[in-house]
Amino acid sequence: MATLKVGNLGYSDVKRYKSLVELSIRYVDVKDGEKININKSYENLTPVLFNDKIKMIVSKIEDIGPHFKKITIRNEKEKKIALFKPGQYISITIVLEGKIMTRIYTIVSTIKDAKLYEYSFIVEEADNGKMGDFLFHSAKVGDDLIVSGPYGDFYYDEIRDKENMICLASPNGILPFIAMAENSASGDFNNHMKIFYSAKKYEDLVLIDYLKEIVDRADNVELYVILSEEEKEGTIHGVITSEQVQGIFDKNCTIYASGEEGFLKYLNKELDKMKLPKKFIRCNMYKPKCNIKKVKGYMMTVNVGEEQYKFPCYNNKTILEVVEDNNLYIPNRCYIGTCGLCKTKLINGKVKVVNDRRSKSDIDSNLICPCSSYPMSDIEITIR
Ligand code: FES
Repeated sequence: MATLKVGNLGYSDVKRYKSLVELSIRYVDVKDGEKININKSYENLTPVLFNDKIKMIVSKIEDIGPHFKKITIRNEKEKKIALFKPGQYISITIVLEGKIMTRIYTIVSTIKDAKLYEYSFIVEEADNGKMGDFLFHSAKVGDDLIVSGPYGDFYYDEIRDKENMICLASPNGILPFIAMAENSASGDFNNHMKIFYSAKKYEDLVLIDYLKEIVDRADNVELYVILSEEEKEGTIHGVITSEQVQGIFDKNCTIYASGEEGFLKYLNKELDKMKLPKKFIRCNMYKPKCNIKKVKGYMMTVNVGEEQYKFPCYNNKTILEVVEDNNLYIPNRCYIGTCGLCKTKLINGKVKVVNDRRSKSDIDSNLICPCSSYPMSDIEITIR
């Protein structure tokens, strides 16, 4: 029987390997005598898959409706930025009054824009605390922002999903569908979308005029407005029901749902009636809310290495928000309890974890996600 011998690398093996490496960085001569670095030309062809804390500058700020602005940011050096799937988001970090703050924003511009080094995102006047406040009221063209991403899996995936999209949204969840519709209008996204945008009253439908204008430009997008507490021409009176969805669903459809917690819980119950396999339904993550009835104050103790800090905290503010307000930093990305980057050790006290996605070992080790945890007593945490 033949025996396979495994020995040490010899001198000639190393020599052969070195010549391979040399080959990979060789320059080629072209006819006019100029030399082209092969590696450099490959670099130009390679797409950027992910932005890791790149610097971009604000290039445009537009009013797009009551309480909303669209901010466009550009890679100053005109270097490639990552392409994305419509529905994904980026994280934006700024330093404000000495505090580092990171929040996420859905990319609402097109893939064509990203090829021209730009992303756009929408900020709401009363959203995302101090950072949203700064971006809405004080950001100006030329400001620096640090950008990472794209992140998120709420998008159409050509392998996983069907081409016809039934999109169910409440006002808090409309942005991913705005992004998809915008890409459809620009020709970068060819799926057929039926958007059902639901609210109590017409005035609650945020960015409705902005969305309508996009839908008018897109061939493949239909918009239906559903109002539960108002009858209005051109809208459907009622709420989204399983019968409605069943009426337009076929095996070439995937259902996408995006909105706040209550809306998604309601939809889950409705869609359960259709008894569809889970692969036909895609649900966006919601921004966790504590929903407390009475605001209470506590003390928070934070250990960072040898140092210890104490400050007041409240049951209606996430632990991460309080930490940031007090000039300390916990790495974070998603801000909705899904990425796990902010995991922090709870030493003492009780917290309410909203949108809890921790593993059993995280729970056994007393790890919490401060971005989606609220203090329910005096607490002590240790930042890693
Ligand atoms: S920032 Fe992602 S889990 Fe907290």
